[in-house]
Amino acid sequence: MKREFIKSILNGPVEEREVRVAGWVRTRRDSKGGFSFIELNDGSCFASLQIIADATLANYESEISRLFPGSSIVVTGKVVASQGGGQSVEVQAVSVKVLGFCEPTDYPLQKQRVSFERLREVAHLRARTNTFGAVTRVRHALAMATHKFFDDLGFYYINTPIITASDCEGAGEMFQVTTLELGKKPDYEKDFFRQKTGLTVSGQLAAECFACSLGNVYTFGPTFRAENSNTRRHLAEFWMVEPEMAFADLADDADMAEDYLRYLFNYVLENCMEDLEFFNKRIDTTLLASLRKLAGSEFKRITYTEAIAILEQATVSFEYPVKWGADLQSEHERYLTEVKFECPVTVTDYPKGIKSFYMRLNEDDKTVAAMDVLLPHVGEIIGGSQREERLDVLSARIEEAGLSCDDYWWYRDLRKFGSVPHAGFGLGFERIVQFCTGMQNIRDVIAFPRTPGNAEF
Ligand code: 4AD
Ligand code: MG
Repeated sequence: MKREFIKSILNGPVEEREVRVAGWVRTRRDSKGGFSFIELNDGSCFASLQIIADATLANYESEISRLFPGSSIVVTGKVVASQGGGQSVEVQAVSVKVLGFCEPTDYPLQKQRVSFERLREVAHLRARTNTFGAVTRVRHALAMATHKFFDDLGFYYINTPIITASDCEGAGEMFQVTTLELGKKPDYEKDFFRQKTGLTVSGQLAAECFACSLGNVYTFGPTFRAENSNTRRHLAEFWMVEPEMAFADLADDADMAEDYLRYLFNYVLENCMEDLEFFNKRIDTTLLASLRKLAGSEFKRITYTEAIAILEQATVSFEYPVKWGADLQSEHERYLTEVKFECPVTVTDYPKGIKSFYMRLNEDDKTVAAMDVLLPHVGEIIGGSQREERLDVLSARIEEAGLSCDDYWWYRDLRKFGSVPHAGFGLGFERIVQFCTGMQNIRDVIAFPRTPGNAEF
């Protein structure tokens, strides 16, 4: 008999039929009436399936009575209407085959509640917990929604290199990739790629090449930053969704970013309600209300210069000074989204000095056509811009940034041969998972987080 997912059994008809299920025991309760209740979870959905194992089963004494949380079993039995209140159906076991026992003394998930900090130390097992199962399913839904959103709009999904010789953000935060011996003075002529290379910080430059050929494309992959930020919003390895549109300006870019975010909120509300209800109960009691609000909400759009004026007039005192020319800090972003406007805010036209070389220089010569989309609680979720399509301006900006025009010869070629206005953005995938689950720490929304001092598993 083919194995069925617990999800399909729980959502299926309340009628007697034979099934086969497999999973991990969450709990076992023995009743005085001569049978046991086993809560079985297979990860297919949040809920567990109740199995009734009768004492008349041949292995009841020898095996079933030794089933502790974490044990893996295969059950064949009959779906019957549930006697208890918790769920509509349960399974009356005909056979319970033990695949693997789990000794309670050693199993780290024994205790009812284990802290998220502790769970990071047993990240290989934490996907078995309610929270990480739910995070994983919501993360999956957000990835599927991403592909569906862009596919429906006619964007092509492309895959861009992980190993690269160009620092897209020009921030010098690249992890180096080399086969040279440690400790020696590097001779890059002898290195594997015969030049200095690193792990990509963004797929954007490659995506631009394809946008300037195919029109609309997006890349969705891992990106790496060797920035020493130990915050609840930063990872050294994170995933980014980067769409790039030809024949588009900053306003088109902001429109698409806002549509995409609303699409994601609607998608999880439609597809992940069981998991969202759990997060709303256990992690953040405002989650469902804020997702519902944002799913239909307009975003406030202001320029950086307007944002600075608002922050200067704020009656609260900030730790970091507010000054035209300085980057917005997390506390400033939170003030704009949570206090001033109480909605997502798209800030545009930042000073050129704090943004990357590829962003299009505005007429004022002081600002660039950049945008950051800010969400309440998580702050910056999206960073994007209209790209500089004028060769002379781009070359000057590369030099100004202390980079070399020669290194970016192919990127500059796009501006030599049929240059077109184009724009795009990057969405931090873990940050959107954080936002849609209410999880406080970004380390708890990715399978195996990489942060300073941490690459276990
Ligand atoms: O603003 P960023 O640096 O933009 C870019 O990399 C552009 N090249 C994107 C583009 O235009 N194609 O990063 C984009 C987003 C941020 O808004 C943030 O959500 C996320 O990536 N992000 C991080 N997420 C987790 N950990 C980090 N260390 C992150 N750094 C950026
Ligand atoms: Mg940014």
